[in-house]
Amino acid sequence: MLQKELIDKLHKNSILSADEFYKMLSEHDEEDSEYLFGLARKVRENIYGKDVYIRGLIEFSNYCRNDCYYCGIRKSNTNASRYRLSGDEILECADEGYRLGFRTFVLQGGEDMFFTAEKIADIVRNIKKRHSDCAVTLSVGERDYDTYKYWYDAGADRYLLRHETATDEHYRKLHPDELSLENRKKCLFDLKEIGYQVGAGFMVGSPYQTTEYLVNDLLFLKELKPHMIGIGPYISQQDTPFADMENGTLEQTLFLLGILRLMFPNVLLPSTTALGTIAPNGRELGLKAGANVVMPNLSPVSVRKKYQLYDNKICTGEESAQCAGCLRNRIESVGYEMTVSRGDYKI
Ligand code: 5AD
Ligand code: FES
Repeated sequence: MLQKELIDKLHKNSILSADEFYKMLSEHDEEDSEYLFGLARKVRENIYGKDVYIRGLIEFSNYCRNDCYYCGIRKSNTNASRYRLSGDEILECADEGYRLGFRTFVLQGGEDMFFTAEKIADIVRNIKKRHSDCAVTLSVGERDYDTYKYWYDAGADRYLLRHETATDEHYRKLHPDELSLENRKKCLFDLKEIGYQVGAGFMVGSPYQTTEYLVNDLLFLKELKPHMIGIGPYISQQDTPFADMENGTLEQTLFLLGILRLMFPNVLLPSTTALGTIAPNGRELGLKAGANVVMPNLSPVSVRKKYQLYDNKICTGEESAQCAGCLRNRIESVGYEMTVSRGDYKI
């Protein structure tokens, strides 16, 4: 074991210096990882027990005004077959999810201005009216303060907006000029101020990422103090400018999940679909490394293949009920329990 001392220090203090994080990320062996994951499980079980929270993901539009170089639904991708779900279709997904035990719905889409502030607010209100014991999470990108506030007042509880990278230079390599890290950060701090439970996060092994950049991500998260952190491996998508770039690794993603759990004992940390895509048991391993959330897809099967942020995405052929059953088995196979609850952040 190379890093026991640093892992213990992180466990005790929930933070390390930039140099220490750098050292831990750049040099560790398998024994270190197992030791880290053991502590991460202990910390997560102290707060959340064996519970794994489920979020029903409704991918309601793959139209997007942005052109992020890594993403399969970028506007320049003419091979993407575009779709939008209607308000009724979205409500049907939520109803079906409710029957299956979901108490959180995540409305995710590209930055599609067809869905005006009013349209989104209507959808939120309708879901909350039918299922008042549910949480609604929005994940629709960058909008202004007033829009975020309007949706919050309409009943939205949470917001997911990955920061993608906390290093300006790196941000500019992943995005065209219209997007800036500065605005991304502003959105995140606005959302917090309004009162949302906020999720940030980044891709592991994204093109041009360095260990130094990852350290910046960890330190930025410490400053933001999000309630949720979404990380998953970068996976190339064939129709993007980054089609030939290498994917992130299972090992590095798991190691970062363990670190994040020690840094943020209470955080809601998903074992992502991307993790399940690069390895058949990726999501189970994520749970064993400190994750406590999974986000299966509730979108109609007819559109699932079209929401292709990256290649070979799993679970695109399954009905929602099948997905929920499969996931329950996977969760139980590593000693955890899928729960029927909103799964709010525990203070
Ligand atoms: N590989 C992995 N994750 C991706 N995302 C977008 N494109 C990819 C890709 N090629 C992630 C981004 C985004 C989230 C919705 O999906 O981090 O914030
Ligand atoms: Fe969807 Fe397994 S989680 S098929």
